[in-house]
Amino acid sequence: MHFSHHHLLSIQELTAEDITRIMDTAASFKEVSNREVKRVPTLRGHTIVNLFYEPSTRTRISFEIAAKRLSADVLNVAIASSSVVKGESLKDTVKTIEAMQPSIIVIRHAEAGVPQMVSRLINCSVINAGDGSHEHPTQGLLDMFTIREKKGRLDGLRVAIIGDILHSRVARSNIWGLIKMGARVVLCGPPTLMPIGIEKLGVEITYNLLEAVRDADVIMLLRLQLERQKTSMFPTIREYAEFYGLQESHLQAAKSDVLIMHPGPINRDIEISGAIADGQHSCILEQVTNGIAVRMAVLYLVSMGNVHTVAQASSL
Ligand code: CP
Repeated sequence: MHFSHHHLLSIQELTAEDITRIMDTAASFKEVSNREVKRVPTLRGHTIVNLFYEPSTRTRISFEIAAKRLSADVLNVAIASSSVVKGESLKDTVKTIEAMQPSIIVIRHAEAGVPQMVSRLINCSVINAGDGSHEHPTQGLLDMFTIREKKGRLDGLRVAIIGDILHSRVARSNIWGLIKMGARVVLCGPPTLMPIGIEKLGVEITYNLLEAVRDADVIMLLRLQLERQKTSMFPTIREYAEFYGLQESHLQAAKSDVLIMHPGPINRDIEISGAIADGQHSCILEQVTNGIAVRMAVLYLVSMGNVHTVAQASSL
């Protein structure tokens, strides 16, 4: 099975075979993080630049750890102290970074489509670390990896995605990926936060939380993204929490071994009760841990194109 992508810009562009290849490679890299010396020489000599125009804790740190565990040199551009504040354009910034010959630029930006645009401007690989409300492909991949690890499969599972679907790049990446992998996806949230026409992607829609979680194998909560809402999309936060916040009582309707997921950061007691986020069904912190292995796999596969096998990756 080959992986022939020079960039990772979206899950939409990946096939089910690509997604399986990334997850299989991540599974082989996960073991590296359990070693006493958490490092393999796979990307020695490569330079990876993290260029984050938006705040991030999980994605930026785990890309940095992933690069270091692969022995790459990694640099984090601090936008607030870069020439961006002097008015340097995005094009000039990425061309300048490219002139220093990195192998990969990992980019997060508030505007949808920026990673795609950057990939057309420069020759090194580009990885999308989240673009506006469009996609967050490595989050979708680590979510699918975590579900597969816990449930043994993705095919045939019922996955409820609940919350601010309209503004969620995580929701879009998961919808594209989960549908390709044969899962049944149910979306739930206030009508004002449900994108028009989203059912064309093959998802079911309900506005009733109890209906959404009934018989669910996985419940994925989304953060209420108040920073992306230009007008008030619902009456009050209290009402949102009352109708769409996951409570213990809802879990009885789901499968007894339901997985509770959230990409983070969490608004505790708004989209999810603190007790559920910290409870026995939650795998929120395992998602974070798996983010390192999945990002190691993505950095490796994007760097190497289709010439190495999973077996070679794990033996390095
Ligand atoms: N899930 C996620 O993207 O989190 P950060 O914004 O902290 O990277």
